[in-house]
Amino acid sequence: MAIPSWLQQKKTVAPYSKLALVYDFVMRHVNYREWAAFINKIFIKNNGEIKTVLDVACGTGSFLIEFNKFDYEIAGFDFSCEMVQQARQKFEKNGLKIPLWHGNMSQFALNDKFDAIVCLYDSINYLFPIEKIRQFYQVCYENLNSSGFLLFDICTERNSIKYFKNYYDYEQTARFRVARKSYYIEEERIHANDFKIQFRNDQTIYFEFHRQKIYLIKEIEESIPSDLFEIVAVLDGFTENRGSEASERVHFLLKKI
Ligand SMILES: C[S@@+](CC[C@H](N)C(=O)[O-])C[C@H]1O[C@@H](n2cnc3c(N)ncnc32)[C@H](O)[C@@H]1O
Repeated sequence: MAIPSWLQQKKTVAPYSKLALVYDFVMRHVNYREWAAFINKIFIKNNGEIKTVLDVACGTGSFLIEFNKFDYEIAGFDFSCEMVQQARQKFEKNGLKIPLWHGNMSQFALNDKFDAIVCLYDSINYLFPIEKIRQFYQVCYENLNSSGFLLFDICTERNSIKYFKNYYDYEQTARFRVARKSYYIEEERIHANDFKIQFRNDQTIYFEFHRQKIYLIKEIEESIPSDLFEIVAVLDGFTENRGSEASERVHFLLKKI
C-alpha cells in the first residue's frame, strides 16, 4: 500500500463513482433494518393499501434489501451507475430479483405507476436550487397512483452544525483507505463532504466533492405544491413526533391529491 508520493496521481471524479465501492463500509453504522421497519410502520398507519414502492436514489440498495422483507413489490434507481452496480451485485448475492436501473430523481417517467415513492438518507439534499426539488415533486406526482404517497427525509442545519462543522475522519482496511473532511458553509447553507479515496494496487488518489443544500423545514413545506400533494406528516427523526429545527433528521410524508 505504501506507494511513493512521486508515483501517486490525483484525480477528481464524480460523486459516488469511487465512494460507491466503499459506501457500505463508510455507512456501516446506519441501521437499514430499523429504517425499513419505521417506513413500513408509517405506511401501515396511514394506508394499508400500499403494494408497490419505488426507492429513488436507492444507493447501494441496503434499504431495499431490508424493505423486501415486508409484503411490497419494490424497485429502485439511482443517478450513480456505480451505486447501482453495487446494489445489483448485492441483490444477486442475496438471490433477490428487485428491478433496478439508472435514473435521475428530478426527471423520470415510468411505464408503471407506484403506490408510494421513497427517497431516503438526505438524498434530496443533493437537489439544489430548490427548483430541482419542485421538479422532483412534479415527476413523483406523475409516477404515483392516485392517493399515492411520497416519503422523503432531509438532514437539518442542527445536524450539520452539531456533527459536521469541522469533522475529519480517516479509515483504512486491507482493500482501501478513505479520508473524509466535512464542513458547513453557514452563509450558503451548504454541507460539504470532501472524500479522498485510495485502493490497494491503484496509484491514483481519488477526490470526490459532495455538496448538499441544507433546507429549512419551512422552505420545504412552502415548496410543496398544494395542488399536487397534501402534507400528511413532518416527523422528527424515526419518531412520530412533529419534526422541528431541533431535529437532526426530518421525514416528510406527502399524499397525492
Ligand atoms: C447519501 S446517498 C443515500 C443512498 C441511499 N438512499 C441510502 O439510504 O443509502 C445519496 C444518493 O443519492 C443519489 N443521487 C444524488 N442525486 C441524484 C439524482 N438527481 N437522482 C437520483 N439519485 C441521486 C446518489 O447517487 C446517492 O446514491
